[in-house]
Amino acid sequence: MSATPAVEAIDLVKKFGDTTAVDGVSFVVPEGSVLGLLGPNGAGKTTLVRMLTTLSVPTSGTGRVAGHDIIKEPDAVRRSMGLTGQAATVDEHLTGRENLKLIGRLYGLPKKYIKETSEGLLERFSLTDAGDRTAKTYSGGMRRRLDLAVSLIAAPPVLFLDEPTTGLDPRSRTELWEVLRGLVREGTTLLLTTQYLEEADQLANEIIVIDKGKIIASGTPNQLKDQAGEAAVVLTLTHASDLESAEALMRAHSAEVYVDRAARRLTAKASGLGDMSRIGNAFDTSGIAVDDLGLKRPSLDDVFLHLTGHRAETGDETSTEKMDGALS
Ligand SMILES: Nc1ncnc2c1ncn2[C@@H]1O[C@H](COP(=O)(O)OP(=O)(O)OP(=O)(O)O)[C@@H](O)[C@H]1O
Ligand SMILES: [Mg+2]
Repeated sequence: MSATPAVEAIDLVKKFGDTTAVDGVSFVVPEGSVLGLLGPNGAGKTTLVRMLTTLSVPTSGTGRVAGHDIIKEPDAVRRSMGLTGQAATVDEHLTGRENLKLIGRLYGLPKKYIKETSEGLLERFSLTDAGDRTAKTYSGGMRRRLDLAVSLIAAPPVLFLDEPTTGLDPRSRTELWEVLRGLVREGTTLLLTTQYLEEADQLANEIIVIDKGKIIASGTPNQLKDQAGEAAVVLTLTHASDLESAEALMRAHSAEVYVDRAARRLTAKASGLGDMSRIGNAFDTSGIAVDDLGLKRPSLDDVFLHLTGHRAETGDETSTEKMDGALS
């Protein structure tokens, strides 16, 4: 393993008039790892990716990709990376195979290499059969996969993915995660942005949470969850009539107990499995019937709320501020 990080952001700042979209962001992504940039709409994720991929010039600060400076060596940076932007960039009027060929030619790759690599990529993204259909006949998930395939044609060691699964159904999302894990196994470094806490949790070794252009937290998924508080024992009663006695029993084992009457559920702060088994035993001997008993760690959703005071995922609301347009 070389000591050169795959990606470095060095005090990056980007201003658009009065708006500071990115406000002094620094981080390092070691080779072969996955960094998840997590943040809500307008946090500055796309702006960061655009600067690191040389599509946008920083107001100040700089960055390096595979050791190349994004300002001084943009060509070398482009040769070391692939990018799947937030908006689909495939040409709708071309077939899957033609899209791959077009980008391969733009990279100046040899014809034979393009042909062989394209087939491999179509296979890997389950697009072999659809390869001769125009992209406009593809579903959203297929387009996303073709987008990804296209960004891999030159086999870049570093891949930037801007919200790779936004708009996909849960199944396509899980499938794409599998493909991305495969790339990581083969040594590709990933920097992905996401608004989905679960996605960062599933894929990233390291997560950076950004809000309003600034890093507000970073760490492994588990470290972030630990910051949001302790674990809790969650117990669901069989009979609502047991709620009072169950609460009393819980209070004997935990200082903080919450009762959700409608759900017949009691939640108690706990330090771990020991607490859970003690509470379980207590209910066992008391004879109070229990439907379900479990230990719940804080979710990244809890983390986000804890850090920012607002939720990361705001329902179906989508950004209406796409002034920057699509990545191309
Ligand atoms: N070209 C531009 N001109 C003016 N303001 C811009 C431009 N591009 C981005 N911004 C602003 O910069 C901020 C960060 O935008 P950015 O697109 O980086 O956020 P994001 O985290 O990618 O959001 P989303 O999750 O919605 O894609 C927003 O306030 C946005 O309106
Ligand atoms: Mg964006």
